[in-house]
Amino acid sequence: MIYPIYAYGYPVLKRRAADIEKDGDIDVKQLAEDMFETMYAASGVGLAAPQIGKSIRMFVVDADAMDPENLKGFKKVFINPEILEEDGEEWAFEEGCLSIPKIREEVERPERIKIKYFDENWEEHTDVFEGVAARVIQHEYDHIEGVLFTDHLSGFKRRLLKGKLTSISKGKVEHDYKMKFPNLKK
Ligand code: NI
Repeated sequence: MIYPIYAYGYPVLKRRAADIEKDGDIDVKQLAEDMFETMYAASGVGLAAPQIGKSIRMFVVDADAMDPENLKGFKKVFINPEILEEDGEEWAFEEGCLSIPKIREEVERPERIKIKYFDENWEEHTDVFEGVAARVIQHEYDHIEGVLFTDHLSGFKRRLLKGKLTSISKGKVEHDYKMKFPNLKK
């Protein structure tokens, strides 16, 4: 099932998401499958649950296409993740976001992370990721903390983007996948 992607301006994107209960009523396998389907339909490399309106700590990534040489088969589901360490040099990389179409900006983040998480079978993992793999995870992890990549930009850059972001929240932006806009003018 393909979900509509919530655009910039929805409060769910600014809220810290809640942990998922292992024996609760969320079918994480089904949800992971639907999130991958939604992400692929939008040609994304990562998708976090708040982006489909669910304030829960889960995201999916498949960055194979970004760097087939180094990220071959880098497809994962992260449930209740916790970044344990973040280190290395800060480096700049141009990020985009399915909730903020048509805007890409360079963001600085540390190069390496150590993260603990559960997969869709509730197996626990602790892994180290670096470079682009770390970057995709950091961006998605931010989503479940209620942070968007635009929050990392300088005040100056944010002021420059303000008009565009307001337009996005009103649905005045081109997009070739299903979206929902908080301030859509009918
Ligand atoms: Ni994003």
